[in-house]
Amino acid sequence: MSIIPLPQLLALLCCCGLAAATQGPTDPSTPPNLGLAHFHNLTFDPGTWTLSWACGGHDGAVMSCTVIDQEAGIRRRVRSRGCRCRFQPMELHRGVDLEVAGDKGHAQVHQTLRFENEGAPGSGAENLTCEILAAHFLCCYWAVGPAAPDDIRYSLRVLNATGHEVASCSAAPGTPPTRCQADDLTHLPRLAYIVVTGQSRTGLVRFLDAVVNTKGIERLGPPDNVSASCNFSHCTITWAPPPTWAPMTEQDFRFEIEWKSCPPLSSSTQKAEPSSIAQKVVIAGREDNAFAFPSPAPRGRLWVRVRAGDTRSDRWSDWSPALELGSEATTPPRALVLAASSCAALLCALALGAACRRLALSRRLLPPIPGIRDRVSDDERVNSETLRKDLLRP
Ligand SMILES: *[C@@H]1O[C@H](CO)[C@@H](O)[C@H](O)[C@H]1NC(C)=O
Ligand SMILES: *[C@@H]1O[C@H](CO)[C@@H](O)[C@H](O)[C@H]1NC(C)=O
Ligand SMILES: *[C@@H]1O[C@H](CO)[C@@H](O)[C@H](O)[C@H]1NC(C)=O
Ligand SMILES: *[C@@H]1O[C@H](CO)[C@@H](O)[C@H](O)[C@H]1NC(C)=O
Ligand SMILES: *[C@@H]1O[C@H](CO)[C@@H](O)[C@H](O)[C@H]1NC(C)=O
Repeated sequence: MSIIPLPQLLALLCCCGLAAATQGPTDPSTPPNLGLAHFHNLTFDPGTWTLSWACGGHDGAVMSCTVIDQEAGIRRRVRSRGCRCRFQPMELHRGVDLEVAGDKGHAQVHQTLRFENEGAPGSGAENLTCEILAAHFLCCYWAVGPAAPDDIRYSLRVLNATGHEVASCSAAPGTPPTRCQADDLTHLPRLAYIVVTGQSRTGLVRFLDAVVNTKGIERLGPPDNVSASCNFSHCTITWAPPPTWAPMTEQDFRFEIEWKSCPPLSSSTQKAEPSSIAQKVVIAGREDNAFAFPSPAPRGRLWVRVRAGDTRSDRWSDWSPALELGSEATTPPRALVLAASSCAALLCALALGAACRRLALSRRLLPPIPGIRDRVSDDERVNSETLRKDLLRP
């Protein structure tokens, strides 16, 4: 066995090292970039979600593009059309990686591009929320970025899937605007892309964007035309569903009814006694928009309100103004009270007349007249309180 001299050993090692280096590590997942030079001027337009490149040299190539948002774990792939790929509206504020790839014969072409949200970290708006109010307005709110420059001015635009502006607003000058309202929703699509951009003299400001399902951001108003009435056994509350921007069917609605019965105002002190515990019920939307429940105790008062829910977004409207049905809910019509009291007066007079006759005849003690009032107020339609007052009236 011969010993290899040191210089020769070094030369041998170098050779092997070089051989290994030229062979290189191969990554089976990415095809060799044979066609790097094929995509000239690869550019991305965030306003239309379009990746495009200079045409020429790709005729017959099958191309696909991929957009990757690493942070959100989103990966979407589309086929190319001509020398461009158009993606569906998507959030871009975290930055995205874009890839274009194709086959030409046996050669594969592949190129990537990084799109960044340029500007100082923390300069952009945060926590964007939007809602459609009163079936007519898109109202959006956000917070000023923690590192936003002092002269920041944010403005908001709403785009449809082809990148056309369908609504916009920039808030009044002065304090940094964090809210704006778009009044014309005529062209607002089901999927809207909303972007808040910022401007400052100190440099670029990051943008904040969101893709919003406009059907899910509608905040319903309280039900309209709420009314309630009671008979002896039941009270019925009726309402009209609130107007909505997106067409809604009965099944998209639900309603919550809350009611409480209160004892009558005490006639001596005119103070309300403690009320009963409120009762609530949620019902599915239906054609009659009405709900009946047992009447409160006779001569009680009733307090009732209703709110509308959107089954698509799980959100509730504000409550309708509470309706209070006073004793009129259980008091008979005035004519009946008058009739009852005149009847009672007549009975009184007859009884008195009879008593006087008996007194005159026998001069014995007046026998007790069996409860006139009780007999009259046995009829539960008659409010004994009212009756008593009427009787005592001069
Ligand atoms: C790429 O863009 C530059 C500048 O816009 C232009 O001069 C050049 O011709 C373009 N290349 C191709 C292949 O279109
Ligand atoms: C946005 O909301 C998050 C989570 O609620 C909160 O931590 C953050 O401070 C908010 N940003 C601003 C600028 O208010
Ligand atoms: C976006 O709006 C423009 C202008 O209103 C309209 O021409 C276009 O068809 C709309 N795109 C979609 C996808 O609705
Ligand atoms: C509410 O009542 C008014 C007057 O009765 C009526 O004109 C209106 O159409 C009603 N609204 C709804 C939503 O039913
Ligand atoms: C009272 O109202 C309820 C619910 O509207 C109804 O079902 C019932 O027949 C009414 N009773 C009388 C005596 O009118």
